[in-house]
Amino acid sequence: MNVAILGCGGMGRLHAQMAVDCGQKVSVCADTVRPAAIRLAKEFGARAVNDPESAIMAKDVDIVVITTPTTTHEALVATAAAAGKHIFCEKPFARTSAQCRRAIAAARKGGVNLFVGHVVRYFQEFECLRAQVQSGAIGEPGWAKLYRGGIYPGAPGSWFRDYDQSGGVTLDCMIHDLDWLRYVFGEPERIYCQALMRKAPTQMDYSQVTMRMKSGLIATVIGTWAHPSGFKVKVEICGESGMLQFDSTDAPFRAEARQTAAGPTMIVPSNPVSVSPYQLEWQDFINWIEGKSLPRVTARDALRAVEMAEAALKSAAKRQPVTV
Ligand SMILES: NC(=O)c1ccc[n+]([C@@H]2O[C@H](COP(=O)([O-])OP(=O)(O)OC[C@H]3O[C@@H](n4cnc5c(N)ncnc54)[C@H](O)[C@@H]3O)[C@@H](O)[C@H]2O)c1
Repeated sequence: MNVAILGCGGMGRLHAQMAVDCGQKVSVCADTVRPAAIRLAKEFGARAVNDPESAIMAKDVDIVVITTPTTTHEALVATAAAAGKHIFCEKPFARTSAQCRRAIAAARKGGVNLFVGHVVRYFQEFECLRAQVQSGAIGEPGWAKLYRGGIYPGAPGSWFRDYDQSGGVTLDCMIHDLDWLRYVFGEPERIYCQALMRKAPTQMDYSQVTMRMKSGLIATVIGTWAHPSGFKVKVEICGESGMLQFDSTDAPFRAEARQTAAGPTMIVPSNPVSVSPYQLEWQDFINWIEGKSLPRVTARDALRAVEMAEAALKSAAKRQPVTV
């Protein structure tokens, strides 16, 4: 199948490579900034255009990849859906849940497959954690703590630095963990959030979400865009009979069972990362288009994740817990 990349920045480049790694061809690269389109098109032997609509409408395009700033996603999904093109849209699905709902309706009307890139569902470490929880390795889970972040992304002036466009660390980054928590532990009930959202001259963001899930599990999600460099992910999940831990700075994944008088602590180290999780999500998307399987993440999941992040931002603004 032929792929159009809309938005030739960091993620556009990555997804062009993933499409090729999954046996697809990049035929058009579109970016409102012409040199960005030309650069990526040259790398992938594609043609470059400025106007994303012309890329969507191109006769040879079967799949449209949306890797533009979050506020542009809804309109591009609607255009692609009306043109009958399958869609890979980066997360967050959109800036607001209302935009997500309209995008879902457009895809339904156009009869196209709309996939949203919640890639953490494809990270092998997170799949290991999920498998351990679901196999009962730690018994009934009681609480989970997820941490993600690093530097403030984008150069000064970038859309990432405009909270109205990116939603800051709470929407843009923590949405990965909000989605994963719902994926593993079910629906949330209540969210309380405190977010820094400090603006220039020294822009930094830090956000702390506490959630009670309908299952009774308590979850904390911390997101930071306040580090001087780097990127880190950490997870801790505690259950009645054990604890799971993952720290990207000292991978591999580790699982410990509660120590009893009778036996030693069980530690299961493993190194499950062999294929890029971005390639795994692409393969899932392609398999769905080819009618081989249903995707691991649905557009409705992506909508729920935006609803959770939206509730967190509302809680931070009101300084009150919000029922989801
Ligand atoms: N899944 C992940 O791990 C991950 C990581 C980073 C970013 N993202 C998401 O991917 C999306 C893109 O992020 P990025 O880091 O690549 O951003 P970026 O700023 O690096 O690139 C965006 C590109 O889109 C172009 N653009 C802007 N408006 C456009 C339009 N209407 N039509 C065509 N091109 C347009 C810009 O000129 C820029 O080149 C965002 O939604 C972001 O939240 C996901």
